[in-house]
Amino acid sequence: MKDALLRRLRDRSAVVGVVGLGYVGLPLALRFAEVGYRALGFDIDAAKVEALNGGRSYIERIPAQRISQARQKFEATGRYVRAGECDAIAICVPTPLDRQRQPDLSFVTGTLESLLPHLRAGQLLVLESTTWPGTTEEVLRPRIESRGFKIGEDFFLCFSPEREDPGNPRYATQTIPKICGGSTAACLEAGLALYGGAIDSVVPVSSTRVAEMAKLLENIHRAVNIGLVNEMKIVCDRMGIDVHEVIRAAATKPFGFVPYWPGPGLGGHCIPIDPFYLAWKAREYGVHTRFIELAGEINRAMPEWVIGKAEEALGRCGNTLQGCRVLVLGIAYKKDVDDMRESPAVELMELLVARGAKVEYSDPHVPVFPRMREHRFELKSVRLDAATVAGYDLVLLATDHQAFDYALVRKHAKLIVDTRGVYLEPAPNVVKA
Ligand SMILES: NC(=O)c1ccc[n+]([C@@H]2O[C@H](COP(=O)([O-])OP(=O)(O)OC[C@H]3O[C@@H](n4cnc5c(N)ncnc54)[C@H](O)[C@@H]3O)[C@@H](O)[C@H]2O)c1
Repeated sequence: MKDALLRRLRDRSAVVGVVGLGYVGLPLALRFAEVGYRALGFDIDAAKVEALNGGRSYIERIPAQRISQARQKFEATGRYVRAGECDAIAICVPTPLDRQRQPDLSFVTGTLESLLPHLRAGQLLVLESTTWPGTTEEVLRPRIESRGFKIGEDFFLCFSPEREDPGNPRYATQTIPKICGGSTAACLEAGLALYGGAIDSVVPVSSTRVAEMAKLLENIHRAVNIGLVNEMKIVCDRMGIDVHEVIRAAATKPFGFVPYWPGPGLGGHCIPIDPFYLAWKAREYGVHTRFIELAGEINRAMPEWVIGKAEEALGRCGNTLQGCRVLVLGIAYKKDVDDMRESPAVELMELLVARGAKVEYSDPHVPVFPRMREHRFELKSVRLDAATVAGYDLVLLATDHQAFDYALVRKHAKLIVDTRGVYLEPAPNVVKA
């Protein structure tokens, strides 16, 4: 059974299913289609399925042309019954935190429940969603075995974490090395055959747990280091030192230092969330993950700290936030992307409104403020020109998109609070935060 699967994966006659056609799943499915596999994408969002089958994109950085070109080999569907057509299935659904900030695996378990009746012998199932170490063995494996399959004999199971750097043009799905761990040696062999067909470098590890933990380490490493530079920012601010200049100077060290940059808080689907998957699981083993909690505490305090700096700056001119006209510059969670998930700019906007400010925003990547589960702003992006900029009491630079004309903003803004270190030279109307 394994040999037949390996042969189909290696000669690319295999059908590859990808469940969850989001920021991770869609480029993955397209990549399999582009290298010659038939790729079947599953999503519960009927609008996405319809758009993709019509050759349209809903993600800014994936051009529609790429989708229409892949259409010969790529198809989207909402019908799980078609899972039986697939030789391999990768699950790329969200893994958020719930209201108590505990892992919410409901998308993963929901997907699995929908897939289960349609799974057949000889298939490979890979979980790609970021999650706590043990999920594949403790949550997926027993459910699959309940269908009577023998993992490693007539069904194959792996964990292979997704790595993405949205907005970074230097790396694509093909060129980002991919870690893969299998439930058994045979499972790993199948996983390597799957990804080896589409990705330049596949990194085998000894178990699904190692693969799960490696992904968490990567993101915890970022969260902790960002926490560190955010704390450095507060110290530097008190001491009258420019933290960005300090980091630029330190980064000239050719070894042993990696620059991380402070900001208005953490954003995106990964860094603010994933570390707490480990913090939660570690408690089961009696371990309190202090670095994760501390970094989380510092990073979560950033929006309030930035607003405090804005209030201080306004206060020096005899103003307050009450009734103040504020333009938030950039609301996506990071530069040059259209992704709003967990964006700290949204929290800044809410804090500003709570203090009586009148808030608008400008973001060429987000023309209309999107519908979000917990946030509501009926706003459209403001076009930047001299008169518009001059009309605000405060410009709060939250996300440093390359598309902004920063010289124009500096020339015409009454006051700029710069949370990204865009303005290198001191200026009377620029306050760093
Ligand atoms: N976005 C990133 O940069 C990134 C990077 C690395 C890892 N990840 C991880 O990858 C996973 C997916 O993240 P994403 O950013 O692609 O999420 P996303 O929200 O962009 O996409 C998830 C997709 O899954 C669909 N979906 C939800 N439940 C489903 C179900 N039961 N069946 C079929 N489709 C379903 C949604 O409609 C959506 O289209 C997460 O675990 C995330 O932590 C994301």
